[in-house]
Amino acid sequence: MTSAAMISGHHGCLVGISKPTVFTGASAMFLLVYLALWKYHDSNNPLLASASSLPSDEMRNDLLNMVEQPEQFTSCDPTMNVSQFQKNDSIPVIYFVTPTYARSVQMAELTRLGQTLSSVPSLHWILVEDAPRCNPAVGQLLRRLAIPFTHLASAMPSAYKKLKIPPRGVSNRRAALQWIRSNIKQGVLYFGDDDNSYDLRLFDEIRDTRNISMFPVGLVGEYAVSAPVVHDGKVVGFYDSWPARRRFAVDMAGFAVNIKLLHQFPNATFIYKAGFEEDSFLQEIVTDANFIEAKAANCTQILVWHTRTVQVPMAMLQPPTLRIADTSISGLLHSLDEYKLASFSTSKGKPSSVHYLTDV
Ligand SMILES: *[C@@H]1O[C@H](CO)[C@@H](O)[C@H](O)[C@H]1NC(C)=O
Repeated sequence: MTSAAMISGHHGCLVGISKPTVFTGASAMFLLVYLALWKYHDSNNPLLASASSLPSDEMRNDLLNMVEQPEQFTSCDPTMNVSQFQKNDSIPVIYFVTPTYARSVQMAELTRLGQTLSSVPSLHWILVEDAPRCNPAVGQLLRRLAIPFTHLASAMPSAYKKLKIPPRGVSNRRAALQWIRSNIKQGVLYFGDDDNSYDLRLFDEIRDTRNISMFPVGLVGEYAVSAPVVHDGKVVGFYDSWPARRRFAVDMAGFAVNIKLLHQFPNATFIYKAGFEEDSFLQEIVTDANFIEAKAANCTQILVWHTRTVQVPMAMLQPPTLRIADTSISGLLHSLDEYKLASFSTSKGKPSSVHYLTDV
């Protein structure tokens, strides 16, 4: 049953109550859920679409609770002072938001991306882990890079982890939006995943975004690109193989937003529905398509690619036993563990050994 059908069904039922009725605890609860659903139906909240794709009423309730609750997140480096990054106000600061999650390729991706970002002037990296706690190895990487950063952790609510396609990165991006709204007044916001590839010219293009800018992203979908279509300097449509009834068929890496819009539209956020996150956010903040600024030579250049790294399962190893004392093995295995490349057990997993060149 769709939620719309459920609402009209329940609506008829409610209208039928004309005589004094004794409410049991269960029916009172039912009424609350009904009212909550009706409220969101009424305000045409896109979250309802998300609610209807969830399998159980229990999860529906979880979702509705989350609508009103601020995102729960942890600040990993509370001593970081935002004002110290805002000295150079001659060029706008780019707030580059990256959601990330623990996997064997994570540290490799973050190292590569971090080194790209360290060659960009006036950039502040907001890295948000999909985890209940902050990973110290990630924090060390951020400090080594010596670029302004904010390190947060915000786990995907458990209700969504059970979905066939979990909406990855939503909780992280929502946390970043909340952090920016409470700490930052001006600048440009960009959402850059940890596995994409960025041409440094992209940053020059997006830095002067007055409202919202859009540009092509390579390696997206069956057209190998997701791109705005420009006519007379204006965005008039989208070249994207998955329109899916989205008003803005745009990839997460294909737009940048002036932070003043986040303050102008304080409720604009991402919905927990895989594939529809961008559209939900853009529909809130783009009130007039004429505000969209076409970048990358009227959307003819590719300055960012949706590259994807092959996922390598974490190795499960039995550590070598013979003659490893006083060798580098224990330090090496510590790094493998810290970077989540491998886990270790003395009884399970692949036995490992050292091939010695010389006697030790
Ligand atoms: C984009 O198109 C407009 C209108 O045709 C033109 O005036 C402008 O110079 C173009 N910009 C670039 C960077 O090519």
